[in-house]
Amino acid sequence: MAGITDAEFLNKVIPYGFDAVTLGGYSLDEKTIEASQKIIERGRKEFHFELEEIIPHMESEVNKIKEIHPDVSVSANVRSINPEPIIEASKIKNLDIIELNCHCRQEEITSIGCGQEMLKRTDLADFISQIADNAESEVSVKIRANVGGIDTLEIAKTIEDAGADYLHLDAMDPNVFDADWKLLENVCKNTDIRVIGNNSIDSADKIKKMYLCGVYGFSIARAIISGTLNFDISNF
Ligand SMILES: Cc1cc2nc3c(=O)[nH]c(=O)nc-3n(C[C@H](O)[C@H](O)[C@H](O)COP(=O)(O)O)c2cc1C
Repeated sequence: MAGITDAEFLNKVIPYGFDAVTLGGYSLDEKTIEASQKIIERGRKEFHFELEEIIPHMESEVNKIKEIHPDVSVSANVRSINPEPIIEASKIKNLDIIELNCHCRQEEITSIGCGQEMLKRTDLADFISQIADNAESEVSVKIRANVGGIDTLEIAKTIEDAGADYLHLDAMDPNVFDADWKLLENVCKNTDIRVIGNNSIDSADKIKKMYLCGVYGFSIARAIISGTLNFDISNF
């Protein structure tokens, strides 16, 4: 979660039983950094670093987690208009996963063709292939389900065929505070990529429900904003 999930925050929540955590989202090139600046100016939380600061900052954040939790996988969620800065970031020592953000719906990011707007790019498959072919870490692609005009299953297949290791799927149902369970199951059944199911997990029962859909793993965002969880994930 932009502006929230730094190493200090993640070190606090890992003891709840997480075996992987995600830093960021971070903006990696001039255009997305400028967009981040605009988001901050209108009062929304964001991480903001200048171009020359961002990679050393990420490296230091990864190490702050690995020093305390060497067995936890560390991912970094990133945005850029071109694949090259993402490939560069994947070379950060000890970073396990680089995650392409095709999820952000802040207007400053979508208006430059990034975040959720990536799903509409005709070069999406090539963009992901370039990262998958050249990255030095594993590659995840984070998407939001049910984006207008986008067939989520088709996009999932594109991401799989392009060579990503994980599909991090925010199975958002735009009408309710609950995951779109049918869609999640449909994607899991009809692809072989490792799906990390996400959306509205706020109980152990919802984690069980996600596994019944066929996910490889799950992720939790809003339920840990306070830095605490009121249910036990250690058995999953
Ligand atoms: C304040 C806030 C910031 C977020 N920032 C990001 C981000 O930078 N990158 C991203 O992929 N998702 C981001 N998300 C989305 C969450 O990671 C997650 O996909 C979404 O909140 C649904 O999961 P949840 O129901 O467990 O919260 C953000 C969500 C919130 C509430």
